[in-house]
This record gives sequence, structure tokens and C-alpha cells, in this order.
Amino acid sequence: MTDTVRLVEVGARDGLQNEKQTIDPSIKIDLINRLSGCGLSIIEAGAFVSPKWVPQMAASDTVFTGIERRASVSYPVLVPNMRGFEAAAAVGAEEVAVFTAASETFSQKNTNASIDETFDRFAPVIRAAMDQRITVRGYVSCVLGCPFEGDIDADAVARVAGRLFDLGCYEISLGDTIGVGTFGGVRTMLDRVTRTVPAANLAGHFHDTYGQALANILAALDSGVRVFDSSVSGLGGCPYAPGASGNVATEDVVYMLENAGMATGVDLGALMTVSRWISETLGREPQSRVTRACAAHEAHR
Ligand code: HMG
Ligand code: MG
Repeated sequence: MTDTVRLVEVGARDGLQNEKQTIDPSIKIDLINRLSGCGLSIIEAGAFVSPKWVPQMAASDTVFTGIERRASVSYPVLVPNMRGFEAAAAVGAEEVAVFTAASETFSQKNTNASIDETFDRFAPVIRAAMDQRITVRGYVSCVLGCPFEGDIDADAVARVAGRLFDLGCYEISLGDTIGVGTFGGVRTMLDRVTRTVPAANLAGHFHDTYGQALANILAALDSGVRVFDSSVSGLGGCPYAPGASGNVATEDVVYMLENAGMATGVDLGALMTVSRWISETLGREPQSRVTRACAAHEAHR
């Protein structure tokens, strides 16, 4: 039987939230629509956060209402509090993601709240979402290191992930926010976390700052995780995580998994076309090694 892996495309949210140049909502809409033509089944479509904190996500409502929503695709959005949840529900979001951290300092810098206070904010969000049959995903940042506190104890990750799971998040995405994780570190962290939350309810969210993201995905696969967040063209970074680079490139993940006999449902050729288009639109080279290698190969034919 083919092993199946679910990819959560975060390029239009994590990928663009840190972008310095103003990106017109029409480009984000175009990006999401193009991505939904590549076989991706989950495409993060924005964040209903304070525009003072993340200006790039300010028009998430315009983006959400502008996309062509396909029945086979889910379009989750981030919400930090009830205000964000209500705005997301008002435009018809069917899935939201709440986010906190395993590091107190990062939680303060990212959301102006302690870890406990983030839970105070989103406990009512999760209750309201359940009432409205809106599904909730949970994010934990800094699971393998924090830009302010350094090493993070796996017990702290397990504690926060367990709380999210107990509150009703169907899946907990474990974020290596600054990409400092390694194969060994992921294994150690997941050995601990899977004793609290089953691997079937976990996702890996690896930024590729140190070039370890694919190795980290392999480590997570070994531990039973089958859901990974990734970003077309390797776009991304968190505005409150100094030095964080983009997410692992979706093309590179698809190339690795499909060649290992694991089905992602993603059309790699179509995805590389989208990667080249968004990179050109933003005025840069794709960060995906696979997309760059294929372009070089084409050029020499
Ligand atoms: P605060 O300043 O403590 O809260 O921010 P506040 O309630 O005092 O609100 C401040 C202002 O924002 C007020 O406006 C509110 O009305 C407004 P003012 O009165 O000053 O004009 N406001 C809102 N506006 C729109 N939508 C809302 C909202 N809430 C308040 N929902 C807050 C607290 C959580 C709002 C703020 O810190 C915030 O928005 N933080 C978001 C940071 C963020 O989005 N970071 C990136 C996403 S997380 C990430 O990238 C990591 C991840 O990828 C995983 C990984 O890699 O680790 C997921
Ligand atoms: Mg991230």
C-alpha cells in the first residue's frame, strides 16, 4: 500500500507575511488559485491578526473572499483571538489555526502574551469554532530552539502541544521557527511529544535556515508523522523571529516523497510553474533547489 503524506501549503501566509514589499491582494488571490490547481488539498489563505503587528496580512478578508474556493481544498487562516476568529468566520472560513509557543519569550514577542495568556485568548475561540463546526488546528513555535532563549526542552513542547490537543485542536503543527533543528533533535523531541499527542495528530513545520528541513522531515516520518507544512518556492519567515528564513520548499518535499513512493497528490510540474511565477512576481530566484535544477536542466537542453 502506498504511504500517503498530507502537505499543508503555507506560502500565501507564512511565505508572504514577512515580505517587505507591499503585495497587492490580487497577487495573493492569484497565488492561492494557482496553488489549488496543483493538487494541494490544504492551502493556508491568510491571518486575521493585528495589521499593526503584521501589515502584510492586513487584507486577509479581501483575499479570502476573492479566491475561487474548490470543494476539494481546505483554506485555513490564522487567528490569535476572538476578534480574529469572528472576522474569519464572517468571511466563511471553515478552518482556523491558533498559535502559541514552547518559549515564553517568543510568545511575548510574537503575541504580546505569555503562553498561558495565549491559551486564555483562544480557549473561547476553540469553543466558538466547535459550536460553528469550524475545525481548529494548533501551532507550537520554537519546538527545536528559540531565537531568544536558545534550547527548548522537549517537555515544554509536549506540555503546550498536549494542552492544544486537549482543548480540541485536531492537529498540532510543531514549528521549527528558526530552522535550527537537526535529524537527531527532531527524533528526541518527537520521542517525548508522541507520548502526549499521537503522531497521527502531529504535523512538522520546518523552516530551512540551516538546510536541515528535508532531513528533519525524514526524522519525523520515522516517528510516524505524515503531515508537513511547506511553502511554494521556499518563501517565508516570521517577522518576530530574527534570522528565520523560509519554510522548506514544497517542490523539494514533493520530489523527495514521491521518489520514495509516498503519495502527496501534488503535480510537481504544475507546482514548479507556480514557483517560478511567484518568484518572478516578487523579483527573486526560487529558493527550491528542485525548481532551480529543473530550470537549469531545461536551459541546457
Ligand atoms: P496586542 O497589542 O497585545 O493586543 O496584540 P490588543 O488587543 O491591545 O490589540 C492591539 C491592536 O490590534 C488594537 O488596535 C486591536 O484592535 C487590534 P488599536 O486599538 O491599537 O487600533 N487587534 C486586531 N486587529 C485585527 N485583527 C485582530 C486583532 N486583535 C487585536 N485579530 C495580538 C495582540 C495577538 C493581536 C498581536 O500580537 C498580533 O496580532 N500578533 C500576531 C503575530 C503574528 O501574526 N505572527 C506571525 C504568525 S505566527 C508564525 O508565523 C509561526 C508559525 O509559522 C509557526 C512557526 O514557524 O513556528 C505559525
Ligand atoms: Mg512558520
